Amino acid sequence: IKRIGVLTSGGDAPGMNAAIRGVVRAALSQGLEVFGIYDGYQGLCEDRMEQLDRYSVSDVINRGGTFLGSVRYPEFRDPAVREIAIENLRRRNIDALVVIGGDGSYMGAKLLTERGFPCIGLPGTIDNDVAGTDYTIGFFTALGTVVEAIDRLRDTSSSHQRISIVEVMGRHCGDLTLAAAIAGGCEFIVLPEIEFDRDELVKEIMAGIGKGKKHAIVAITEHICDIDELAKYIQEKTHRDTRATVLGHIQRGGSPVPYDRILASRMGAYAIDLLLEGHGGRCVGIQNEKMVHHDIIDAIENMKRPFKSDWLKTAKELF
Ligand code: F6P
Repeated sequence: IKRIGVLTSGGDAPGMNAAIRGVVRAALSQGLEVFGIYDGYQGLCEDRMEQLDRYSVSDVINRGGTFLGSVRYPEFRDPAVREIAIENLRRRNIDALVVIGGDGSYMGAKLLTERGFPCIGLPGTIDNDVAGTDYTIGFFTALGTVVEAIDRLRDTSSSHQRISIVEVMGRHCGDLTLAAAIAGGCEFIVLPEIEFDRDELVKEIMAGIGKGKKHAIVAITEHICDIDELAKYIQEKTHRDTRATVLGHIQRGGSPVPYDRILASRMGAYAIDLLLEGHGGRCVGIQNEKMVHHDIIDAIENMKRPFKSDWLKTAKELF
């Protein structure tokens, strides 16, 4: 291969810029040319791309978001749309593509791979929900943001002796909530991986009050229930002032923490090694601190992410 493309796709994550930089700098140092594709698969289909040099990625390692832009582009499921993408890549003599994103972005990379175009996927999402890796780029930065928010909520909820419900992102994965609940010392956790019964939660809260707890923080992953309704219900049953806070997109922003910058840099460079070794259709991960790669089709179709049940056990023991 001589020339590669790189794009970011799906929800942005802190560290995506560091990953682009890793890809670009590693590729250039191995004598490859790199094209940056704007706005994910949509920009690819609209042929919006330009050649990057080492200075194109100066001063981005510390920046949140992605300077290439990111878009969710369900149209890419249409084979005719994908043909346009492949034509655009071929016309520019691009031989391989590095895709940085979450599950949905891997699906696009899988479809291109099945069509014979080599792609490498790098896991970039705050959700930590990508198969084949212990951690995704952006997870630890988002975790820091959530924990900081919980610390702030703790100040006010302890001053007012209130119950605080905090809704954390993660789509259908509870990792961010669980990790933040441990680090933030939350008293109660509600995760998508565990069946939720609001009366059970109320019972636990009442037991806490019975033991003398004056305030409490409940960390809950998004999409489980309406947390304003839940707050009302808890207040009704416990007679304690209860407030709900949705952290929202604040969790996606900010300068990446060092771990995410290192992970992104390592993964970016590793993607280039894989391409030069002739691999395509792979996704990169970190497992037990080592860089690994898996078949991207297998990762999407068959590999399951193990639930961190030992983390939950610890969290519960410490309440
Ligand atoms: O996948 C990242 C993520 O932030 C999820 O945690 C969340 O469910 C979703 O994206 C929100 O998507 P959007 O930015 O399109 O509202």
